[in-house]
Amino acid sequence: MSEAIRRTWLPYLNDDVPAGCATPAETAAFELALGCQRLGAPVPGLREDAALGEGYHIYTESGRPVIAGGSAGLLYGAYAYLEALAAGEDAPEGVQKPFYGLRMIDCWDNADGSIERGYSGRSLWFEGGRFQWDPRRIRQLGRMLGSAGVNALCVNNVNVHAEAEDLIEDAGLTELARFADALRPFGVKLMVSVNFAQPMRHGIPTADPLDEAVQQWWAERADAVWRAVPDLAGFLVKADSEHRPGPFTYGRSHAEGANMLARAVAPHGGVLVWRAFVYNCMQDWRDKKTDRPMAAYETYAPLDGQFDGNVILQVKNGPYDFQVREPVSPTLLAMPNTNLALEWQLAQEYTGHQIDLYAMNPMWHEMTADLPPETVMAVAAVSNLGRDDNFTGHPFAAANLYGYGRYAWNPRVDPEAVLRRWARLTYALPGAQEDALVAMLMNSRSVYEKYTAPLGLCWMVNPEGHYGPSPYGYEFSLWGTYNRAGRDAVGIDRTAAGTGYVLQYPEALRRRYETPEACPDDLLLFFHRLRYDYRMRDGRTLIQRIYDDHFEGAEQTEAMARTLEGLSLPEPDKTEALERMRLQIRDAREWRDVINTFFRRLSGVDDEKTRTIYD
Ligand code: GCU
Repeated sequence: MSEAIRRTWLPYLNDDVPAGCATPAETAAFELALGCQRLGAPVPGLREDAALGEGYHIYTESGRPVIAGGSAGLLYGAYAYLEALAAGEDAPEGVQKPFYGLRMIDCWDNADGSIERGYSGRSLWFEGGRFQWDPRRIRQLGRMLGSAGVNALCVNNVNVHAEAEDLIEDAGLTELARFADALRPFGVKLMVSVNFAQPMRHGIPTADPLDEAVQQWWAERADAVWRAVPDLAGFLVKADSEHRPGPFTYGRSHAEGANMLARAVAPHGGVLVWRAFVYNCMQDWRDKKTDRPMAAYETYAPLDGQFDGNVILQVKNGPYDFQVREPVSPTLLAMPNTNLALEWQLAQEYTGHQIDLYAMNPMWHEMTADLPPETVMAVAAVSNLGRDDNFTGHPFAAANLYGYGRYAWNPRVDPEAVLRRWARLTYALPGAQEDALVAMLMNSRSVYEKYTAPLGLCWMVNPEGHYGPSPYGYEFSLWGTYNRAGRDAVGIDRTAAGTGYVLQYPEALRRRYETPEACPDDLLLFFHRLRYDYRMRDGRTLIQRIYDDHFEGAEQTEAMARTLEGLSLPEPDKTEALERMRLQIRDAREWRDVINTFFRRLSGVDDEKTRTIYD
């Protein structure tokens, strides 16, 4: 590992990391002393005011800046102050508080040090079945999370493998407590993913949530866990999902399962985060009635109002699984009497493995246009962090962590302003170059989308690892992930006449999606099955649009490389970004040629512009 750990948007703070601070307030004082000295700025006074909680108030008193806030609020205020000055702006004034009280990052780190869907190296805190970490890097991580405004970190994978079960057993609690101590000064509380069937490890023959022995085991376990880590935020559970155990085994509902655990953690002020990622992962592809995107709504909407007050149902942004383009999940719009968390994925599982450039704030902004921010009470994001020197693999993928924090603080934040702020703090490029970088980031999702899956179709990715094209890779699988591309038509009819998925939406959205004429182009094949000669709004045929997008996407990737070459980025970021861009160009061409060839072969329709499509 290099001595200088560079990746943060607060570069003037890079050499030193706060050590020896016990509370966010102490960290705030440390950061301000260091940062203001580097910036030649006055050091604000700090005034602890518990009533402000995580919020802060910045004002001037007798000519001197003052930051008031609860302990965490002081830290957020300190970072806001430093950020503004580092970005060349005036110090902010006024009161700010986070929109969401719980701003989680879910780390899919396994105790053996691997990370499920991790693209930035191994785990920063696990190795060999236990906690093992470099304190300096964890403080740097704490600064990244704290300065972005993230306040909870789930330490282990939602798929809880046997070794990770030890985390909440007596043998694991000392280490868990030490790790909690390391992140507490940054306002970050820990969470732990738990296995619903863990009592069975202890001679209890069942995990039935209505069984008294099971209830008692969890209650005692929660007592022990919170004795070790009194401010643990809660437990996170993936149940009855992709072969994980859960209440369905015992004929119990997910409300019964979640409430049982919620009652164990409630006396300690903990929350029980229950994931809504439940679907039939053993589907027969011949079965056209079962439609995977409908599963979460079918399971959870009838349970609205039945969950305890400290249960948070965590719902993925779209109804499938973090595809490049999905409509917002209807489950999020169907449960007004349930605490909901919205789950994003920073790890670029289906979005380019942190090789391809993909800035996410524009997507979050767009996907939640129809979701009033108060519909959910918390947000979560699957982490993109790992042990790579720069923490995020692609140096620009740090923008997604930073951007997530800004989004979680204010879900209506302008995506372009976020990306500009990140770019300015991180690279301080000359104006025109900054504009070019921001434009490239803003456009990056659209480019990726064009050369990968067309028009909301999803699942044309290689099932092995989820990178690269494989248009029929998922077509005959058990996962409920089909595009049903045929000789004359492609897509799935999810209207009332088809699977009926569209009926899960409230009226206005239903109307928008139920006819191809009203449906936005980019979701056309998500909702409709259309012939290749279907005329799009702009007069092109569907098949021509598919070809055009794939050519354009690959070309735009080459244009991005030229932009990147012209940027005076520091090393090693420039070299790293260019190396990844070379791979992206190669892979975009592969996507273009495979997808276009696939549709050309099926349809027999030539490209009107007679570009090269293989046959
Ligand atoms: C996807 C992903 C898995 C993950 C799952 C989840 O299916 O490929 O690795 O476990 O989502 O969110 O639980």
